[in-house]
Amino acid sequence: MCEHCKEKFYITTPIYYPSDKLHIGHTYCTVATDTMARYKRFRGYDVMFLTGTDEHGMKIEEKAAQAGITPKQFVDNIVEGEGGVKDLWKLMNISYDRFIRTTDDYHCEAVQKIFKKMYENGDIYKGSYKGLYCTPCESFWTESQLVDGKCPDCGREVHEAEEEAYFFRLSKYADKVRDLLENTDFLQPRSRVNEMVNNFIKPGLEDLCVSRTSFKWGIPVDFDPGHVVYVWVDALFNYTTALGYCNSAHNDYAKYWPADVHFVGKEIVRFHTIIWPAMLMSVGEPLPKRVYGHGWLLLDGGKMSKSKGNVVDPYLLAQRYGVDSLRFFLLRSFPFGSDGNFSNELLINTINVDLANDLGNLVSRTVAMVQKYFDGKLPLEQEEDASKDDELITMACALNHSYAEQMEKYAFQNALAEIFKVISRANKYIDENEPWKLAKEPEKTARLARVMYNLLETVRICAGLLQPFMPDTSAEILRRIGADEAGWESMAFFGTLPRDAQVTGGAPLFPRIDVAKELAELERIHEEAVEKARRAALPAMETEPLNAEPVDFDTFCRSDFRAVKVKACEPVKKSDKLLRFTLDDGTGTDRQILSGIAKFYKPEELVGKTLLAIVNLPPRKMMGLQSCGMLISAVHTEYGEEKLHLVMLDDAIPAGAKMC
Ligand code: ME8
Ligand code: MG
Repeated sequence: MCEHCKEKFYITTPIYYPSDKLHIGHTYCTVATDTMARYKRFRGYDVMFLTGTDEHGMKIEEKAAQAGITPKQFVDNIVEGEGGVKDLWKLMNISYDRFIRTTDDYHCEAVQKIFKKMYENGDIYKGSYKGLYCTPCESFWTESQLVDGKCPDCGREVHEAEEEAYFFRLSKYADKVRDLLENTDFLQPRSRVNEMVNNFIKPGLEDLCVSRTSFKWGIPVDFDPGHVVYVWVDALFNYTTALGYCNSAHNDYAKYWPADVHFVGKEIVRFHTIIWPAMLMSVGEPLPKRVYGHGWLLLDGGKMSKSKGNVVDPYLLAQRYGVDSLRFFLLRSFPFGSDGNFSNELLINTINVDLANDLGNLVSRTVAMVQKYFDGKLPLEQEEDASKDDELITMACALNHSYAEQMEKYAFQNALAEIFKVISRANKYIDENEPWKLAKEPEKTARLARVMYNLLETVRICAGLLQPFMPDTSAEILRRIGADEAGWESMAFFGTLPRDAQVTGGAPLFPRIDVAKELAELERIHEEAVEKARRAALPAMETEPLNAEPVDFDTFCRSDFRAVKVKACEPVKKSDKLLRFTLDDGTGTDRQILSGIAKFYKPEELVGKTLLAIVNLPPRKMMGLQSCGMLISAVHTEYGEEKLHLVMLDDAIPAGAKMC
């Protein structure tokens, strides 16, 4: 494709809610989109890859209020802050061309214009929203959302109420949308079409409430103050405003719209394939060519969610195994269109089997042999291919074709499977040809050179096609085999690598992981994180409330507090709580006090200390031993855990000194 007649390819991810840090499920979708964008660039397309964040709505308003900051500060922190959305995409090597935040001015102004356009053409009208209303919560509920007939949030009575709101005439577009879904390839995989038609269109599409008055954090309806635009109207139009639709911040709308594909998770297919096309029809703009609804990554069979506390941290995994291994794992292990079960074991095994054993071994064995037998450079005299080379060469030559066929269907897993068939074949080719034996017979040098060349060429094609999945690893492998040429066109030709390319070694690309040890370590890290989160949810410091009941002065004065010195201290047998103190109270006779503080102190560390005791309590028997008085301590709780400190006095205070 020449520079001027390049075909365009516009691809998007959903824009993420920055209400919490992103997890591996979000990373999955973005890595898939990035891989597709890189693949299309590889093939010579002029790619526009858009991602971003969806920053309005009540949830974010509430979270910000809880954190005591403004909603804008709250989202700025999660989007731009350390370890935030942009940091994560940088870490994961996401090659987006543009990043939209729905709080960007140009987007807000464009959405106001779009809303007005639909109002003026009659597709948005003012009506009233009827429902069951909880006044203290300022929320509408439907009958089925109530719990025991009461507000599901606060448990109070709800009453019928009506509120002014704007509605979008979704019902008007029902037939056209149904036709789009049933009779075109608009929604893929095809299996998702029935769900949309049966669950949402057949029962009758109702008009959609597209404004809210119960909270403020949204784009205001400019011609009716008090109303903010429904977050999905705001969010969906990001795909067009980011290109310059209804604004002048960008100027690529004519070039890139309509989108070639929107990648979205299955739970938001409904918004993208019913509401989105209907709104585009309303404003008279072309529809995206395709929406692909991918599956979820599940953990223990359920969806990951912050509130369930079962999120997997992409930072941790990338740090332990490398960004490329993580990217690879996500697309190799799960079919993109269906749900998949994430597990640490699957991740580690995939790295060990596919990357360390198959790919890593092929590269390291090939490179090591070229170094050992030919000093890193093959001779130009190489034998012609023998018939036993045919199978490998045919497979390697056909690979770009079968790979592309799968990539065009967004079947990442299958595309990788095609590559790994060739990798396995190449490993088998080494065993069949036994280069170590050829190396022992000087008259077979030309044959050995040919065998090694065929391996290098196979590695070049496999590494070249892995580039969209593992950009850095692919570049490193190509560097090691001395390949300068790994463009798309060269993937179809076996024999592109110069015969005397310079080969260089390097550290293992994918060190093998000890499965049992690593799983135990991950478990430990997980438990630590859970414990940290549990503690973080508890108050840092709590003390008992003050006792408001007065004690009369004379009663108080009768309590006899004395300085006592610890002469001996030991645990009480058969008790895990009690310590037995032998104390000097200044009388010349030892005093014995038992105190339930064994979990806070080691006995030996208390010997010699000057403590505070009340000495005129009636003696008590504990575990068969007499306790004459009580040691005074300070107590509080820290993150829900009980803390205790014995009151320690200055050692200059003599035993028996009275406190008053
Ligand atoms: O839905 N597995 O944002 P979001 C796979 N703001 N994908 C997952 C996942 C998992 N465990 N968890 C989340 C929104 N996702 C809207 C989009 S677009 C105009 C507005 C995917 O942050 C999820 O399916 O809740 C969705 O596609 C994406 O992450 C963003 O989710
Ligand atoms: Mg969501």
